[in-house]
Amino acid sequence: MQQHSVVRICPFLLLALCIFASEDFDWTKNKMGSFQYGTFPSGFSWGAGSSAYQTEGAWDKDGKGKSIWDVFSHKRGKIHLNDTGDCSCEGYHKIKDDIALMKDMKLNHYLFSISWPRILPSGIKNDYINEKGIEHYDNLINMLLENRITPIVTLYHWDLPQVLEEKYGGWQNASMVNFFNDFANLCFERFGNRVKYWITFNNPWSVAVEGYETGEHAPGLKMRGTGAYNAAHNIIKAHAKVWHTYDAQWRNKQKGMVGISLSADWGEPVDITNQRDIEAAERYVQFYLGWFATPLFHGDYPQIMKDYIGRKSAQQGLSSSRLPTFSPHEKSYVRGTCDFLGISHITTRYITQKNFPSNHANSYFTDRDLAELVDPQWPDPGSEWLYSVPWGFRRLLSFVKTQYGDPVIYVTGNGVSEKMMCTELCDDWRMQYLRDYINEMLKAVKDGVNVKGYTAWSLLDKFEWDEGYSERFGLYYVDFGSKNKPRYPKASVQYYKRIISSNGFPNQREIESWKRKALETCTSSNQLLAAARRKSKENKEHAAMPKVWPVHDEV
Ligand SMILES: *[C@@H]1O[C@H](CO)[C@@H](O)[C@H](O)[C@H]1NC(C)=O
Ligand SMILES: *[C@@H]1O[C@H](CO)[C@@H](O)[C@H](O)[C@H]1NC(C)=O
Repeated sequence: MQQHSVVRICPFLLLALCIFASEDFDWTKNKMGSFQYGTFPSGFSWGAGSSAYQTEGAWDKDGKGKSIWDVFSHKRGKIHLNDTGDCSCEGYHKIKDDIALMKDMKLNHYLFSISWPRILPSGIKNDYINEKGIEHYDNLINMLLENRITPIVTLYHWDLPQVLEEKYGGWQNASMVNFFNDFANLCFERFGNRVKYWITFNNPWSVAVEGYETGEHAPGLKMRGTGAYNAAHNIIKAHAKVWHTYDAQWRNKQKGMVGISLSADWGEPVDITNQRDIEAAERYVQFYLGWFATPLFHGDYPQIMKDYIGRKSAQQGLSSSRLPTFSPHEKSYVRGTCDFLGISHITTRYITQKNFPSNHANSYFTDRDLAELVDPQWPDPGSEWLYSVPWGFRRLLSFVKTQYGDPVIYVTGNGVSEKMMCTELCDDWRMQYLRDYINEMLKAVKDGVNVKGYTAWSLLDKFEWDEGYSERFGLYYVDFGSKNKPRYPKASVQYYKRIISSNGFPNQREIESWKRKALETCTSSNQLLAAARRKSKENKEHAAMPKVWPVHDEV
């Protein structure tokens, strides 16, 4: 894996950079509002998340079919350094190890996804059920329950069976609704006696926009101005159908809940005295979160989307809007199909009004008539797009409460990546990010927002889609250069553990020491990691010599 060349220089710089980093970070000046001490309601569920394609590896093992991500990542030039998820964390083979990590953190829940083509290699239930795939998830679920960790299961985290893309055009095609429903129904049948929290789709915004509009993600199609809207339309109908299936066939017996996980940045007007900016910021959130949430809670797309896309389509000379419409029957069918709402939230943008004249090149992005801005003062510890703006989280949660009738909310993903390759284990900025975002969530709960659980994103470093392995979101560091993919705890593991065991932030005296204590433990983990890398580097130098001897690269 290409990762070697990056990690190789690290051991020498590691400790020096850690010390530098921990002295240099001061984000307090960027914070809006003060820290609030207090704890979450009892029974609040703390967890960590993952997804199948990003962590499992074993892409062609035990009868698994190909997904669109297997095919997309194998095309050169699509992924950073042409990396793939073929092996990733080898999570498929390391269930036991990973559950031990969760147990050590005393997680209440683990959020993971089921790979559709691992269970149905062609995507279609009537073709063939891969019992080996079923067995894998059976083992995972059973082992979680034995360790008193509640499974929260996502049915679709982006890995559509490739056959369905090739034969039908994937989410462009309404026939996905029934195929997905059959797959979901099979999962309810086989796992539903033990799984009580189901998420149909993770971040359908990304599936629609990045898969079918910008083409940055699999299947890599660039259907500007229509691809995303059509994909989303079928996804919304598929979600509703699966909810109805559960409601009619399984709910009485299994007594679980079916929701969806929507991602959204918060959009704040640049100038809060300017009505046009206020409206633009509202549009930003409606085109992002409201696109999916409004049909599911109120039965139709947000009025603002219908207005803007309809008007622009007409100006383009089209006879109907590029935004599909729901029939009256469909409206009532999709309305009220969320037993809970999953929210993934990472960052915030400032928004200002910006007109894009209608022309043939209209896209999802230009349909919105707005521009996204960031404050250069905002800390940007990780990915290019990722700024730490904790107060945006509270505003988003409050928006969800008022817009969608106070739904039960599970935070299904919140976390930060890192770009400083050499300071992985002493992740001061991640502790700060978790502390501040979880604190804003605490304020939201005190405001009356019905948040029942929180999922740190993510348990492990993993394959980050088009960014390959260049961004690390994990609480645990994964040494991808080593065959066995060993995991090492970052300092944030210790920090998150203390938040969990205290169920929040009990008092100043208690939490003042958390960060210092966490940084102490990460220093020894750093030394372990550095030693392991030296060893594996020596082995690789051996391996590079003519292959006269058998190669041992066990660490
Ligand atoms: C990835 O593949 C493309 C296309 O073949 C090639 O131009 C590029 O150099 C490759 N990048 C790496 C890091 O191998
Ligand atoms: C959906 O798939 C069917 C069967 O391949 C095909 O006939 C139809 O044209 C497809 N529809 C769209 C919108 O792609």
